[in-house]
Amino acid sequence: SFEQSLRPQTLQQYIGQDKVKANLSVFIEAARMREETLDHVLLYGPPGLGKTTLAVIIANEMGVNIRTTSGPAIERPGDLAAILSALEPGDVLFIDEIHRLPRAVEEVLYPAMEDFCLDIVIGKGPEARSIRIDLPPFTLVGATTRAGALSAPLRDRFGVLSRLEYYTEYQLTDIVMRTSVIMDTEMDVQAAGEIARRSRGTPRIANRLLRRVRDFAQVRGDGTITKELADYALELLQVDRLGLDHIDHKLLRGIIEKFRGGPVGLETIAATIGEEAHTIEDVYEPYLLQIGFLQRTPRGRIATPLVYEHFQMEVPK
Ligand code: ADE
Repeated sequence: SFEQSLRPQTLQQYIGQDKVKANLSVFIEAARMREETLDHVLLYGPPGLGKTTLAVIIANEMGVNIRTTSGPAIERPGDLAAILSALEPGDVLFIDEIHRLPRAVEEVLYPAMEDFCLDIVIGKGPEARSIRIDLPPFTLVGATTRAGALSAPLRDRFGVLSRLEYYTEYQLTDIVMRTSVIMDTEMDVQAAGEIARRSRGTPRIANRLLRRVRDFAQVRGDGTITKELADYALELLQVDRLGLDHIDHKLLRGIIEKFRGGPVGLETIAATIGEEAHTIEDVYEPYLLQIGFLQRTPRGRIATPLVYEHFQMEVPK
């Protein structure tokens, strides 16, 4: 699909995450030289940084198929057993949001990862017995926004742990330029830079903003994305100079106006602004922490002086 073709297909095409890429390329080449399956890989970091894209690339570079699922989608041990027994030798099984796997399912995964087998209990009570089913060797690629939310036994079974980082403005500019070429849209590099600056270090956001700015260019302009048009569109999209959106604003203003800048607990903030605590923690907070707008303390979240400055408010004494 169009969406799929936007995604880079090889490590070579993938922009950014240089350390992760350099290491993965060695592990992939080594596995290929030995004609072995790649060891299990855990990708972790904030949403939108390219974990799914990397999983697809890993399968591509290994020359195998990928089967994609997610933690919450696998409800029972039998669901996982069905997925595992349908794999071909060497396949990549990608489990997104792997920290949300039910406990009972996780336990099926341990022997599958370690020994490529399933232990299945047949019958009940004194008649019950366990049989072992061999599986084809496979590579599990797990993705999570929080490595800390994974149980220790699961985390320990991954041979490769890769943390994805926020992208720099320059990397995002390259990504936006690359996407505009694929979309066959003319764009000034200054416009790409402006979109990049307002994308919170996140390619998914950059490409989403690009699509919306392109809509404005098509309807209100001549189709070309100039710096001026990008500024105009981004203003209408209510994305501020730092890329903070409506919900970031609600969150930060809430802490300042209702809790005098904090400290205030996550659950309290969530209830006040009407967002899920998990969404705040996984999606909004990581970037605000990264740019030094929020601090996490044992007594709760604090809005730093940078927030007051950004909103042109006076810092309280
Ligand atoms: N599109 C989205 N993320 C990308 C990346 N990291 N490299 C190239 N194109 C991308």
